[in-house]
Amino acid sequence: MGPRCLTKVIATLLITIMCATIARSSCRETKLARDCEALCSKNQRGFISCELRAAVLLPNNTLFDISLYKVMPVLDLAVSRLKALKILPNWLELKLLPKDDHCDATYAQIAAIDSYAECVHLFFGPACDYCVANVGRVAKFLNAPLITTGGFTFDFTESKIVCSDEYFMTTRIGTLSFRDISNVFVSVMDRYNWKKVHLVYDPSGQRKIAGKHTCQLMMKSMVQFIKLRGDITFGNFDIEGMNTEEYRESLKTNVGNNYAGTGPKWGTSKFLWKNLFL
Ligand SMILES: *[C@@H]1O[C@H](CO)[C@@H](O)[C@H](O)[C@H]1NC(C)=O
Repeated sequence: MGPRCLTKVIATLLITIMCATIARSSCRETKLARDCEALCSKNQRGFISCELRAAVLLPNNTLFDISLYKVMPVLDLAVSRLKALKILPNWLELKLLPKDDHCDATYAQIAAIDSYAECVHLFFGPACDYCVANVGRVAKFLNAPLITTGGFTFDFTESKIVCSDEYFMTTRIGTLSFRDISNVFVSVMDRYNWKKVHLVYDPSGQRKIAGKHTCQLMMKSMVQFIKLRGDITFGNFDIEGMNTEEYRESLKTNVGNNYAGTGPKWGTSKFLWKNLFL
């Protein structure tokens, strides 16, 4: 996501937040009295200052694709561009409050609570799936929207329109979700009229993308997608703790003849993949 795109996103957000401050719609029936939520405040000398506070909840670790190291400089660039374009009015300070969520659901929750204590108006992140789940479920009660480029699992792509929706007030602005990847797989299967699939995966693979269990969550999304279809049968097998040398043997026992059949030659498949991705 380039700075230009982010600038657009933040501009839209600003407008949304400003409107939201006027027409508040918290999911909580009894509201806590919090005067710190106002955008503007007056100090003892009568000087009025206005700031919009945004928590940035991400792992402070370069191991992850979406981390504070990579995102903070981009957010800073976006803010200065917004100021240059006068989209962000000069009377309003956009204050970013970074917090390390360790890509861990519990730390993310604590970071969200700490940020709430600092009276944030919105959350950027978290991005790891289990963290988005934890913070996303409470964000609607904290009355602060959650914007993330993460949150890939099927559940996050479900409707988020009314308060009773699990992730109401969570917005995904990423380009791809596990549902989309499942869609690609199923399209390939449809192309060849394949009705049986065996899902072979490493549950802990690709941690840098969505944190713990990235591949497992991907497969879970795939299974949910297949179940919705109803005409595809599947088996699954996880290769956790297995050496690469054992793959051949495990394919024999787990896949074997059960998934064999007459089909296109690989040359044709390659052609299809090329068409799909180019
Ligand atoms: C992230 O790590 C750097 C270097 O280790 C440290 O200086 C910084 O304070 C950390 N930031 C947060 C928000 O934890």
